[in-house]
Amino acid sequence: MRRGGQSYPCSCDVQQRGVVRVGCFVPTLSIAAGTIPGMCGIAGYVGPRNAVEVVFDQLKRLEYRGYDSAGIAYLNGTDAIHVLKRAGKLSELGRLLDEKTPESGIAIGHSRWATHGAPTDENAHPHHDRYEDIVLIHNGIVENYLELKQELLREGHTFRSETDTEVAAHVIGREFAQGVPLEEAVRRAAKRMRGAFAFVVFSRREPAKFVAARNFSPLIIGLGEGENMVASDVPALLPYTRRVTYLEDDRIAVVTCEGVTVTDLDGKVLEALVDEIQWDIEAAEKGGYEHFMLKEIHEQPDVVRQCLAGRIDEHARVRLDNAFSETVWQEVDRVNIIACGSAYHAGLMGKYLFERELRLPTDVFYSSEFRYGDPLLSPKSLAVFISQSGETIDSLAALRLCKQRRIRTLGIVNVVGSSIARECDRTVFTQAGPEISVASTKAYLAQCLVLELLALHIAQVREMPGIRIEQEAGRLSGLADKLALALEVEGRMQEVAQAQKDARLAFFLGRNADAHVTREAALKLKEVAYVPTQECPAGEMKHGPLALIEQGTLAVFGATDPEVRDKLASNVKEVQARGGYALVVTTDDDGSLDGVGDELVRVPATGSPYLDALLAVVPLQLLAYHLARARGCEIDQPRTLAKSVTVE
Ligand code: F6R
Repeated sequence: MRRGGQSYPCSCDVQQRGVVRVGCFVPTLSIAAGTIPGMCGIAGYVGPRNAVEVVFDQLKRLEYRGYDSAGIAYLNGTDAIHVLKRAGKLSELGRLLDEKTPESGIAIGHSRWATHGAPTDENAHPHHDRYEDIVLIHNGIVENYLELKQELLREGHTFRSETDTEVAAHVIGREFAQGVPLEEAVRRAAKRMRGAFAFVVFSRREPAKFVAARNFSPLIIGLGEGENMVASDVPALLPYTRRVTYLEDDRIAVVTCEGVTVTDLDGKVLEALVDEIQWDIEAAEKGGYEHFMLKEIHEQPDVVRQCLAGRIDEHARVRLDNAFSETVWQEVDRVNIIACGSAYHAGLMGKYLFERELRLPTDVFYSSEFRYGDPLLSPKSLAVFISQSGETIDSLAALRLCKQRRIRTLGIVNVVGSSIARECDRTVFTQAGPEISVASTKAYLAQCLVLELLALHIAQVREMPGIRIEQEAGRLSGLADKLALALEVEGRMQEVAQAQKDARLAFFLGRNADAHVTREAALKLKEVAYVPTQECPAGEMKHGPLALIEQGTLAVFGATDPEVRDKLASNVKEVQARGGYALVVTTDDDGSLDGVGDELVRVPATGSPYLDALLAVVPLQLLAYHLARARGCEIDQPRTLAKSVTVE
């Protein structure tokens, strides 16, 4: 590949039909809605430079977000689309490009974080349609892809990958083959797809443009002089332009080197506002947040959407594509959940749910204890391994032990293609996207959600009369919006953190599910702010730990469970009577704790004790973050901790 500042002719033969008009200029560092990155990286360029080089450079600038495969499509001459893609690091793709030295005036590229199908060459983007007329890259999830795939299979389409993206390419290609313009084909196809997604597509038959479509997943168009580009995230654009327009939901953009036209799904041309990016590259990588931890906390409403995408159908039935058959779920008589750290805390939530709702005996083990503990395992039991990285050595060793003992194993894992995901009999992915901060936030949340989906799935299979699946599924569907509201307490948590920054000890107390969530919150405070913590069920306080409370001790109470609120109110008083400072988190539908504690924060009530308790983790993640910041700690990489613990 030629490097350097050469320019290449751009074969623009498309008339400029409308340009993006300058709207309001936004000079601040505020986080625009919809700028939270999706899971994968999207890049695209049309203009006089060598588009292949530009797009490869843009993908490199998105590397920090994590990915497991990458690919580029470009047009060489006008008759053929070339696709180069590889599993693994971008350097693998770079080697391929070096062999071919491609040049083109238009290219699109993608770095994939696997959600459907393993990270292989075949599953990497871009994907072709049936006739190889178009090529597509995609972020997000097409929820109804299986239904669309069945339809296409009946029509004789064949597929090379396991992805929803290839299905989307075939849907667009089928419309395009009817003779409509590419833009119209994308519009028609977008109307057939459900889910949260962003697409970029180009065709050898309309060679000087790409068409981009957005529904929930972010897509940003960069505006240059005689060149234009597209990316899922700002850092990819910064070396080329600071003028951008954020594509809104249900919008289609046609991008040529001369201009950009934005329309709605009915083809009506719309005005698009232009922003000037003020961030430097480092801030842009974090979406304008100071740390990845904060960015990941704020991504959680999107994580809820991604995690649930395609898993609750229109009849409010839970669909877990990769879980066991119904016979297995009927047979399982005991669950052993095995995990470490935050994943172990998610496991405690699983036990709460399985025993309370399903009456299914469940134990939770630290992986390191399980593997050396000579565990009692009944043949009909199920071992559930929860892991963000899928590589934690103790969890992997415990998994291998279960396999030796011929126990059924199920993974709840974030990283597709990881060892635990591959070695478990079945794996349900958390779909939380890459988690970069060492302290887990969004992955923990997604693990708890998958456990809830699993519980509903089992209840469905077992036709359990007491469980109103439809109602619970409805609560899950409304959770993302409630989570966004829960994030609004950030200013108050910042004030509490500032006031408590010299705390020498912090208690974390709750009952039932609140006890498990506060345990997780304690781990966050410990690892990022280095504050020693004492976490226990609130009722245990009197049996010893209360002796540690003194003037100024911070005590955090999870108090979302209405069944035990008055008991908890008494515990708050016990702490205050000894000079402790009490921060209480409860729900916004209850006034019984008004005036209780030194600071009371509320999260939106969901109607489910499990989800209420889970929402309470959000203010407490923010507390840990802001306390660490107030103490000047290294937040994203706490001392002596690693993101993936692959040694014993
Ligand atoms: C805490 C944290 C760790 C991990 C633990 C397990 O914030 O991130 O406690 O939860 O090391 O890691 P995974 O989930 O990758 O197996």
